[in-house]
Amino acid sequence: MDSLPGTPGSDLISELLAPHQHDPLSADELVALITNLVVAGHITTVNLIANSTEALLTHPDQLALLREDATLMPHAVNELMRYCGPVVRALPRYATCDTTVGNTPVRTGEAVLPVVSAANRDPAAFTDPDRLDLGRTRSSRESHDRRHRARRGGGVLTPARRTT
Ligand code: HEM
Repeated sequence: MDSLPGTPGSDLISELLAPHQHDPLSADELVALITNLVVAGHITTVNLIANSTEALLTHPDQLALLREDATLMPHAVNELMRYCGPVVRALPRYATCDTTVGNTPVRTGEAVLPVVSAANRDPAAFTDPDRLDLGRTRSSRESHDRRHRARRGGGVLTPARRTT
């Protein structure tokens, strides 16, 4: 990193590499963080584009809708994230106290494995969940929000890689 050429830009990596007075990251931490961001951001995005292309080509009516009305695009991206998102399951969470997930009791220390793709086809959350519907009003923004709530687990379920 010391040999990186050029003037820093306004991008995230330039910002991460800029000298900070408070809580600076070590070189190893910076390399790990940037690697993580590149890998996490690349594979998910590539796979969403590929899955979405396949879904649109096999649902020509939906592709035609999108071609007719480009303003549908934000809905389309959300719906495609729901219908064929690239992440099947998230990391396990471990309960920090006795709790319940749905109607299932989870005891302290037990693991819960969130299955994102199943949540996105949940008939209790989405009408006719196996249908690709780019005009769907209940967007996967909610799926995102629900996933983030699940990730946080209301403070009771902690991600596997966290040690506190
Ligand atoms: C279609 C695009 C994407 C999808 C579907 C997606 C999905 C996810 C999911 C489901 C998680 C949670 C994993 C878990 O906690 O078990 C996650 C975490 C994460 N994603 Fe993405 N992601 C996408 C794009 C990106 C991009 C573009 C970046 C960065 C440039 C990124 C960086 C991260 C990072 C750093 C985490 C870990 C956050 C944490 O520590 O809790 N993701 N992503």
